[in-house]
Amino acid sequence: MTTLIFDATSPASIDDAVDGAARLLRRGEVVAFPTETVYGLGADALDPEAIRRVFAAKGRPSDNPLIVHLAAAADMNRCAIPDERAALLADAFMPGPLTLVLRSLPVIPDIARAGLPTVALRVPAHPVAAALLARSGPLVAPSANISGRPSPTLARHVIDDLAGRIAAVIDGGACGVGIESTVVDLSGADVLLLRPGMITAAEIELLLGLPVITATGATGAPRAPGMKYRHYAPGTPVRLVIADTPPPVDPARRMVLTAPRHYGDFPGIDVRDLSAPTLYAAFRDADLLGLVEIVIYAAPGELDAGLLDRIRKAAAG
Ligand code: TXA
Ligand code: MG
Repeated sequence: MTTLIFDATSPASIDDAVDGAARLLRRGEVVAFPTETVYGLGADALDPEAIRRVFAAKGRPSDNPLIVHLAAAADMNRCAIPDERAALLADAFMPGPLTLVLRSLPVIPDIARAGLPTVALRVPAHPVAAALLARSGPLVAPSANISGRPSPTLARHVIDDLAGRIAAVIDGGACGVGIESTVVDLSGADVLLLRPGMITAAEIELLLGLPVITATGATGAPRAPGMKYRHYAPGTPVRLVIADTPPPVDPARRMVLTAPRHYGDFPGIDVRDLSAPTLYAAFRDADLLGLVEIVIYAAPGELDAGLLDRIRKAAAG
């Protein structure tokens, strides 16, 4: 299959791109689209056959459920049973980089939620995603990478992983947030943080007036099915150094990611900014350049929870 590229990098081009993409989605095809976090791999959330194609294109294990993306928070009660906590979070953070896990209604196919009684819901803020969802209706959308690779933050990353395997990608330029949404499970009595992101546990606690529990149970077992898989990992080994002083780094075929104030400590090295919007692109560049190591340096307290989580997983990979 030839993967079409719809250009939506200027406001005037969005309508045509969304038209073309919505037509393919209606036929049960898989189309990648930009969100404010990372690119998503979209398919009709009410069509089990289309959803099966998403798992096949990514090589994703069938026991890892997908997020259902909606045009508006008001649509949540058509798919799930939102409570007062969900309503408060939706008012504050939707549209935005937040995903809520709620008790599902039967309308959401089993394959989308990997047989779980719950469903993950998100309302993206990106103008292209919003326009597409308004046209297409609910879409399942995991990150648009081959399973286990870093999430894509540019259309080129999607093409590098999935060309020939999906019908189309909408090019909306670079994703502004750069790491995946914060995932909060509200399906039980506790508020569980399943995946940290730009919206922090502290912001959620403040808003709800309830404690947020970071979800690795007493046994340390991960609670989001996706968290047991190796994730966010480039092929190039990642070394994370958190210390008061920068480590010595052999300049041969290595890249350093750090805050601009530390650049001067790594003379003669390919040094790049350590930030959420550029992390995954740097990982992918290191692979293309055939580097032997990515060194990530931060002083204690310099990294927020979302970025640190992605770096730790990459370093463990
Ligand atoms: O920012 C994002 O969330 C991006 C963009 C495209 O929206 N999407 C994304 O999807 O990161 P994905 O599939 O790569 O990650 C979804 C995570 C996985 O860890 C999955 O296990 C978890 O959410 N998840 C999905 N449904 C769940 C459910 N019912 N219960 C618990 N965890 C769930
Ligand atoms: Mg993913």
